[in-house]
Amino acid sequence: MPKLNPFFRRWLPVVGVVLLAACSNGTPADDTSETAAESEFAAAKDCMNVGILLPESDSSARYEAYDRPLLEQEIKVALPGVTIQYANANNNAATQQNQADAALTKGACILVVDPNDSEQAAVIVQQAKQSGVPVIAYDRLIQDPDLAYYVSFDNKRVGELQGQYIVDQLNAGNFGLQEGANLVMINGSQTDNNALLFREGAVEKLQPLVDSGDLNLVFDQYTPNWDNARAQSLMEGVLTKEENNVQIAYVANDGMANTVIAALRTQDLNGKVLVTGQDATLTGIQNILTGDQAMTIYKPIIEEARATARLVAALSKGEDTDSIVNGTNEVIGGAQIPSVLATPVVVDRTNVEQTVIADGFLSKEEICSGLPSGAGGVCP
Ligand code: BGC
Repeated sequence: MPKLNPFFRRWLPVVGVVLLAACSNGTPADDTSETAAESEFAAAKDCMNVGILLPESDSSARYEAYDRPLLEQEIKVALPGVTIQYANANNNAATQQNQADAALTKGACILVVDPNDSEQAAVIVQQAKQSGVPVIAYDRLIQDPDLAYYVSFDNKRVGELQGQYIVDQLNAGNFGLQEGANLVMINGSQTDNNALLFREGAVEKLQPLVDSGDLNLVFDQYTPNWDNARAQSLMEGVLTKEENNVQIAYVANDGMANTVIAALRTQDLNGKVLVTGQDATLTGIQNILTGDQAMTIYKPIIEEARATARLVAALSKGEDTDSIVNGTNEVIGGAQIPSVLATPVVVDRTNVEQTVIADGFLSKEEICSGLPSGAGGVCP
């Protein structure tokens, strides 16, 4: 098959029907669609000016510690001589739109956008499209049919792994868990499509136990902007309401888990309640080794950054992306976005060494500095 850009591939079934209809009328199909489609992202060809827009720096340490440096490093390797424009929206969708504007004005011809708000960022995609600029949604999906690509982890799988971990601990009777244990769910931001997927995956695993009475769901809320302080006050409220009768806190990421642990600590409950997390942050791993957090999800961000860089380079060089893409994701309205999804990994105290330390994601020295000697059986 000749080289197809994402726009053409996405609408291939529709185009196919149109072509068939044309043939059955006895009119030879006029194959202009591919040429039209190839020019849809015309600005990308030979592009050497890439805009990277990340969503925040408060709730997760990942963006400035990993995503930004790794994206810059990988894009520069894939496209030597490239200029990179970087901006962080600090949890504000309007700020992110302005940052996209500014990047386009300064000549960005490919945008990599981790949206602060998965729906509002559609404006960015549409604006970029007017200048023939493709947008790659990075980590969080953007709900727009004209999105060029989506690169992330399997986010529903992240939630399934978190939920299954809880199920396994309950079945094993770990953390003193018994039938009827009280479960709290502190989810991410409702405007982040990932947060919806994390919850969906977790609920898929937990709901059967709630239905059978093995788990008692006492609280289930989203946390605007993944705000860590808000997560803490949510947990404080639950502890008051339930008179400290909480055994499991499903918490969507490590940043919020850390403040939930702070709320537990004031009641002397840290280490006694099963707390989940995500991101394998330094603090998250330290909380696991001290026993305050049970698990996290490790997402090797280098894989996300590298796949993004490969797409950027392919767009710029006008190369086929079939060998990079490994699936599609549907946006609201039904369009299928060519996607690359990497695999998340469960980490608890049993495999910290074999995962984040072995990969060089975090060093043993930084993890163990400030922890008691022998912490988690990992520290010297
Ligand atoms: C990311 C998580 C992150 C969260 C808060 C999600 O979209 O996938 O890794 O912890 O946003 O920034």
